[in-house]
Amino acid sequence: MRLAVFDTHRYDRSALEDANADFRHALAFLEPRLTLQTARLAEGFPAVCSFVNDRVDAAALAVLREGGVRLIATRSAGYNHIDLVEAERLGVRVTRVPEYSPHAVAEHAVTLVLSLNRHIPRAVARVRDWNFSLEGLVGFDVAGKTVGVVGTGRIGRATARIFHGFGCRLLCHDVTPDEAFAREVGARYVPLETLYSESDVISLHVPLTPDTRHMVDARALARMKRGVVLVNTGRGALIDSRALIDALKQGHVGAAGLDVYEEEEGIFFQDLSGQVLQDDVLARLLTFPNVLVTSHQAFLTREALVSIARTTLGSVQAFERGEPLVHEVRARSVLPPAR
Ligand code: NAI
Repeated sequence: MRLAVFDTHRYDRSALEDANADFRHALAFLEPRLTLQTARLAEGFPAVCSFVNDRVDAAALAVLREGGVRLIATRSAGYNHIDLVEAERLGVRVTRVPEYSPHAVAEHAVTLVLSLNRHIPRAVARVRDWNFSLEGLVGFDVAGKTVGVVGTGRIGRATARIFHGFGCRLLCHDVTPDEAFAREVGARYVPLETLYSESDVISLHVPLTPDTRHMVDARALARMKRGVVLVNTGRGALIDSRALIDALKQGHVGAAGLDVYEEEEGIFFQDLSGQVLQDDVLARLLTFPNVLVTSHQAFLTREALVSIARTTLGSVQAFERGEPLVHEVRARSVLPPAR
């Protein structure tokens, strides 16, 4: 099937090309993100492949549908960038990659915690400058600390298991607690307020929904322990960035590791090194010595790319053959409101 692949970079392209040896779709790699402005590039394609920072809203969907698109295969787990209700109304089906390597994201979340705690970026920069002083590089033992995992789906569970291995006390929160998992890692499911007030490290692993948007706002931050290490590899808008900046300025948040940022669209995945950064909130975040920002790279391991490519192209094949779409997302499968 002819598939227009938006927002492609070299790493996507090689993973998709390798996997396509088994599928033989006609892949057209497009660099732009899929938005209303670029949707016309898919004219004549029955299927498009999108990614996390595309904006597949009602207007873009109308253009895609008019151009003949009937399938959007997003090569991501999250699908908050697609208007599912409108897609369904237009008869455009949507598939995603619900599970690739949860370890990729979990390991990145833990990497952020350890890098922040042991001041790795500063230490490396210092030593490169032949400054071998240890002043200001004091960290803490992760063993014995309380780690709060918000969202214990595939990635949250993988993260909790790693911290369990470190000898941490685990507090979890989820709309659907998994008690068998809790027993496995000796965790306790608690209300968010308890998780916030008792955790030394908090890692976010819930999807972005109307209920989780800005779940970490000024009020939530105020409830957290002074000095908390906050890590977000979920979606940027789980955190109110301005409130986080205030909490960092007051020294209330000890460190923040952000793989996602609420306004990352149009910034992350691009090389803007020759330009003036226009986003003042991100620019401020980047000035803190105790904030680490990565450009939505938690998924980026070889294993994850292979798995993402195979699942995505498999969904396109199933669609072409009229087979059931096992990885379809429907408007009604959006999670129910949190209680
Ligand atoms: P999952 O669907 O396996 O788990 C999500 C969990 O969140 C579920 O257990 C669900 O019950 C819980 N949840 C949903 N709404 C909630 C709420 N309001 N309050 C408490 N719990 C709630 O998803 P998975 O695979 O673990 O991924 C989690 C998120 O990570 C994705 O939605 C995506 O946004 C993000 N992600 C980020 C990546 C990156 O590269 N930074 C890569 C892949 C995923």
